[in-house]
Amino acid sequence: MNSELPEVLLDVRNLHASIGEKEILKGINLTIRRGEVHAIMGPNGSGKSTLSSVLAGNPAFTVTEGSASLHGTDLLALSPEDRSHEGLFLSFQYPVEIPGVSMVNFMRAAVNAKRKYFNEPPMSATDFLKMMRQKRAVVELDNKLASRSVNEGFSGGEKKRNEIFQMAVLEPQLSILDETDSGLDIDALRIVSQGVNTLKTSENATIVITHYQRLLDYIKPDFVHVLYKGRIVKTGGPELALELEERGYDWIKEEEDNKTEN
Ligand SMILES: Nc1ncnc2c1ncn2[C@@H]1O[C@H](COP(=O)(O)OP(=O)(O)OP(=O)(O)O)[C@@H](O)[C@H]1O
Ligand SMILES: [Mg+2]
Repeated sequence: MNSELPEVLLDVRNLHASIGEKEILKGINLTIRRGEVHAIMGPNGSGKSTLSSVLAGNPAFTVTEGSASLHGTDLLALSPEDRSHEGLFLSFQYPVEIPGVSMVNFMRAAVNAKRKYFNEPPMSATDFLKMMRQKRAVVELDNKLASRSVNEGFSGGEKKRNEIFQMAVLEPQLSILDETDSGLDIDALRIVSQGVNTLKTSENATIVITHYQRLLDYIKPDFVHVLYKGRIVKTGGPELALELEERGYDWIKEEEDNKTEN
């Protein structure tokens, strides 16, 4: 590992965020080091997607307190585009369709925007197509899909696979995968997971948001966090995901709700 790189990749401190008058994130603390995989689980509506949106810079949310930095850079001060250039990647729970924009053009624009940000010249067409071919192989993405409009008419599973393909092309430092497993058949789940594992290095890190321990059989997390009512209320190793699978969330809800009553 390059010793000049800071070990901590993402540092989130006491992060509070609201939508309108409603506070959704109520003091998130999360430290992610290079080389780590973190799973975030938690009941519906606990704030998992909100956390990823806030980190990615979705303007629908207002950060009211706290901080978030990526490799020491203040994330919250950057535009969503610059957060991406600085190495943040968010795979959406519901990927958007962009009719009329081919995947190839979309990805070329994204790659060259990042190069421009670092004062590098655009990639040549030949190099770009070669790279697309290599990266497509990571998730076994069909060439036909790559030449179609972004996500337009893609099946749910194809969209998810396409997201990992985009991740492969952009080579982010921190990837946040929001329920990438939902709607995947068994083979697609394996391919997408293998893609994520192939892209893992000692310098990048991944946050996997999931409801199912099954995904974590494929993508081994170093840490599992439970988000509940806008806070991380429990952190453990992979065994925590197994315990949740067996016991559900009621015991955690009870523990937490008792705490707030007292
Ligand atoms: N645009 C919005 N307007 C109003 N409320 C919102 C908005 N986005 C999120 N919320 C609310 O914030 C809370 C957290 O939602 P979020 O999508 O982060 O949950 P989640 O943990 O990702 O849930 P799930 O497991 O169902 O995906 C919910 O109560 C939700 O209704
Ligand atoms: Mg969600």
